[in-house]
Amino acid sequence: MKKTGYLLIMYVIASLTAVAQDQDSTRKAFMAAQAVIQKQSADDHARMLEQLHITSLRPGPSGNPSAPNAANVDEAQATPYTSLPDPLTLKNGRKVTTARQWWNERRPEIVEDFDREMYGRVPKNVPKVTWKVISETKEMNGDFPVITKNLVGHVDNSAYPSIDVAIELTLSTPANATSAVPVMMSYGFRFPPGFRMPAPTTATSGTAAQAARPEPTWQQQLLAKGWGYAILYPTSYQADNGAGLTKGIIGLVNKGQPRKPDDWGALRAWAWGASRAMDYFETDKAVNAKKVGIEGLSRYGKATIVTMAYEPRLAIAFVGSSGEGGVKIHRRKFGEQVENVASSAEYHWMAGNFIKYAGPLTPNDLPVDAHELVALCAPRPVFISSGSPKVEGNWVDAKGMFLGGAYAGPVYKLLGKKDLGTLEFPPIETALVDGDIAFRQHSGGHTTGPNWPTFLRYADRYFK
Ligand code: GCU
Repeated sequence: MKKTGYLLIMYVIASLTAVAQDQDSTRKAFMAAQAVIQKQSADDHARMLEQLHITSLRPGPSGNPSAPNAANVDEAQATPYTSLPDPLTLKNGRKVTTARQWWNERRPEIVEDFDREMYGRVPKNVPKVTWKVISETKEMNGDFPVITKNLVGHVDNSAYPSIDVAIELTLSTPANATSAVPVMMSYGFRFPPGFRMPAPTTATSGTAAQAARPEPTWQQQLLAKGWGYAILYPTSYQADNGAGLTKGIIGLVNKGQPRKPDDWGALRAWAWGASRAMDYFETDKAVNAKKVGIEGLSRYGKATIVTMAYEPRLAIAFVGSSGEGGVKIHRRKFGEQVENVASSAEYHWMAGNFIKYAGPLTPNDLPVDAHELVALCAPRPVFISSGSPKVEGNWVDAKGMFLGGAYAGPVYKLLGKKDLGTLEFPPIETALVDGDIAFRQHSGGHTTGPNWPTFLRYADRYFK
């Protein structure tokens, strides 16, 4: 008896040690793979600098508030610019006064600037995607019976068979629905084995955030309204690093060659995938394709606003803590800067041309700013979400994102819609939701979680 007890304890210890060693080696393998990705990204970044004839860049500030080069968080020093590009003035200086002029003249000008200088152009010859339902299951999500489909969108790679691309998507709709339902599509994070969220551990998104949050989850909030949800995994078709630019959908179209300065970056590629998901929704009877919205946080918040700007079939957007490269004004010196996104760690989100604005050019030289990206979504509703500076920090620049929404107002008004209603940054937890552009800063961290109930009340107006 004693001996069995001893053996049992030894067995448990041995198993635990094996698990720990296993986790350790997974972690080590992850770190090694990261080092390779960083090196390849730096090489690709350097190659792009050569194409742009740039020899040096201004470094971005640090996100660590106690670092000597910490990002500015003093509002008094945040606005060195004297003016922003006017979304309603044509390049030839004429004022836009009619909706027709907006659609036919001014909007195409702004799109061209964003294409060339900021997010890059989607190539004309992107191959076709064929959607397949891999599995269909009836399951429970809390109290709600749902039908979940696992979908894969295979990209035709006959022109360059050595790169395989497949878009991964899940769709869950209420099992008891009697007609097609509205769906919110969320950009889903997927972490490789060995990945750990950086400390401090405020849950940011996905499962970690979900676990820390009281029920009901955002999915259950949607189901309670009789709506469905979809999760699109952007890294299934375009990696979230510079090393991946010669692979994925960007690499496939370029036949494995590096990008030209106005080729699309990851944000535009991710948005392309969301458009292909829309193609699928239009064929699925469970989905009301006229009532599909998009949501994402952080880098996927950037992807969300880019997707909404370029995909007219989307009905509403919920843009979470998108920061620099998203709806935050680029010309504001507060939190993350153009220089950070132009670095080898983040440039892959953008077109190569964007790097120029971190040297020799400056953010002031950008032909467009973030409020014009929001304006491209007009007249459709856009909800801009942020967390609290105390919990989320100031990197995302909540006020800069608020202004991105506020200054898009004149375009919404021209199209007969309502703007944010104020240019004054509201106190935390104030829901500015009476207009077609909405804003709310919740008191939590780097997540859209606490804003879901407010967003859904706002979305109700459009989806009812
Ligand atoms: C970094 C980056 C941000 C980005 C964020 C994220 O903080 O600087 O621009 O939004 O990562 O996506 O998590």
